[in-house]
Amino acid sequence: MAKEMEAEELKSSLERGDSLFMLDVRTPEEYADWRIEGVLNVPINDLDTQLAQLPKNREIVTICARGNRSQLAADFLTKAGYQVKSLRGGMVAWNTVYNTVHVPLQLDGKGQVFQMRRLGKGCISYLIVSEGEALVVDPSCRTEKFLEVAKENDAKITHVADTHQHADHVSGARLLAETTGASLYLNPLEEYLFSDFKPIEDGASVTVGNVSIRFIHAPGHTRGSTVFQIGDQALLTGDILFVEGVGRPDLRDKAQDFAEELYSTYQKRLNSQSDDLVVFPAHYGSQVKVQLNQPISATLGELKKRIGLFNVTKDEFISYVTSNIPPRPPNTQYIVKINRGEIDCDPLQAERLEEGPNRCAVSVTR
Ligand SMILES: [Fe+2]
Repeated sequence: MAKEMEAEELKSSLERGDSLFMLDVRTPEEYADWRIEGVLNVPINDLDTQLAQLPKNREIVTICARGNRSQLAADFLTKAGYQVKSLRGGMVAWNTVYNTVHVPLQLDGKGQVFQMRRLGKGCISYLIVSEGEALVVDPSCRTEKFLEVAKENDAKITHVADTHQHADHVSGARLLAETTGASLYLNPLEEYLFSDFKPIEDGASVTVGNVSIRFIHAPGHTRGSTVFQIGDQALLTGDILFVEGVGRPDLRDKAQDFAEELYSTYQKRLNSQSDDLVVFPAHYGSQVKVQLNQPISATLGELKKRIGLFNVTKDEFISYVTSNIPPRPPNTQYIVKINRGEIDCDPLQAERLEEGPNRCAVSVTR
């Protein structure tokens, strides 16, 4: 039987820049829907006729949904003389892998910010560290990932917050706060069915070590969406503003109303901010090319130009946003029920519910 490669091992290999050849053996439909960037797709049933596309002098990693077809493909290719490993657990395992980068912000030596990207899902979390304290923003249920990065930076997680009530992944905020004893910050406008958290209030600040984070209410993706401003340097925009587009307004079934709120957020809350502020979103879509050693970000000024929806009329904005909504992420309603506290969830169930690509943004391609 051909050898296997763990998802973490694949990530480390990509971070090192190893010369791996990734081969996705799922159907073209599965590949088109959700994939690792830079892989070649040859469905397993076509492999025997496509061998000429595969290198003999590089290690090949075969990939499928859960690691079964990729194992069969790896066995076949090993017999044909190739160096092959199968990605154990497939895309589902890849969905749990994080790549962490340091964000080079000028915080006057007061603290550090880390961007933690969940490569398979396009979800982004942040860790802000200062004076031995850490705030984690938008964590997943894989709480050990955040504990690891905090420990590496000699910090204790003292604060945990979500920028909004997520619909595409199970929030780990409550679990992480319980595990660490940290203060949990959520926006009560999201209608949580539990109350053991501190309310996020518009204009209020929270201090982590020597770093101040200000809350700016920014509805439109959800009612309680909040932008977190880090000092005078950066905005964590949640799902309101991405490097490739704007937040989708439809996940609470009121796309027209929410698009109006989103327009108002752009006009009243973001347009007046300094163009030099660096925007860090909570997600990225498949069109964003991720450099494994570079944060995903852009200045607000760059995004105003790139996205072109800051200076249009209200009608134009609503019309564009509501007519370019992507398909919904799988299991949205069930995930929202978990995140509002209606249903309990364990991390293993979360992994199954979260299969599939990120679809949080209305992309702007014009
Ligand atoms: Fe969201």
